[in-house]
Amino acid sequence: MTTRLFLSAVVATLVSGAALADGASLYAEKTCIACHGKEGKKPLTPTYPKLAGQNAAYMEQQMLDIRSGARANGSSAAMKGVMVNPEGDQLVSDADIKAIAQYLSKLK
Ligand code: HEC
Repeated sequence: MTTRLFLSAVVATLVSGAALADGASLYAEKTCIACHGKEGKKPLTPTYPKLAGQNAAYMEQQMLDIRSGARANGSSAAMKGVMVNPEGDQLVSDADIKAIAQYLSKLK
C-alpha cells in the first residue's frame, strides 16, 4: 500500500512535469493504440473515432463518461473494458485520462 502511494506520487509528479511524453506512453501502455491507431490517426475499423487533434476537454469528458457508463451509445462498450474491470476498479485513472487527452489534442 505504501509502495502504491509512493508510486502514485511519482506518477503525479511525472504527469505535471512532462504531460506530453507521459500521455504518449500511457496511450500505448493502456492499449488505446490497438483500437485508435498510431497517434490516434488510424482506427482499427472505419467506425472507430480518430482522436488526433481533438479538443482535450471534450476527450477527457468522453473518457470519463465511457468509464462511468454515462456514455453507452454506439460501440462505447468495446472501450469500456479497457477503462474499468468487471469489479468496477478503474484501470485508467483521472490523471491518466488528463495526460492522454493533452497528448492527443496536440497531435496534428
Ligand atoms: C477495444 C477498442 C478500444 C480501446 C482499447 C480504446 N477505445 Fe476509445 N473508443 C473506442 C470506440 C469504439 C469508441 C467510440 C464509442 C462510441 O461509438 O460511442 C471510442 C471512443 C473514444 C473517445 C471519444 C471520441 C469521440 O470523438 O467522442 C476517446 C477520447 C477515446 N475513445 C479514447 C481512448 C483512450 C485514451 C483509450 C485508452 C485508454 C481508448 N480509447 C481505448 C474503442 C476503443
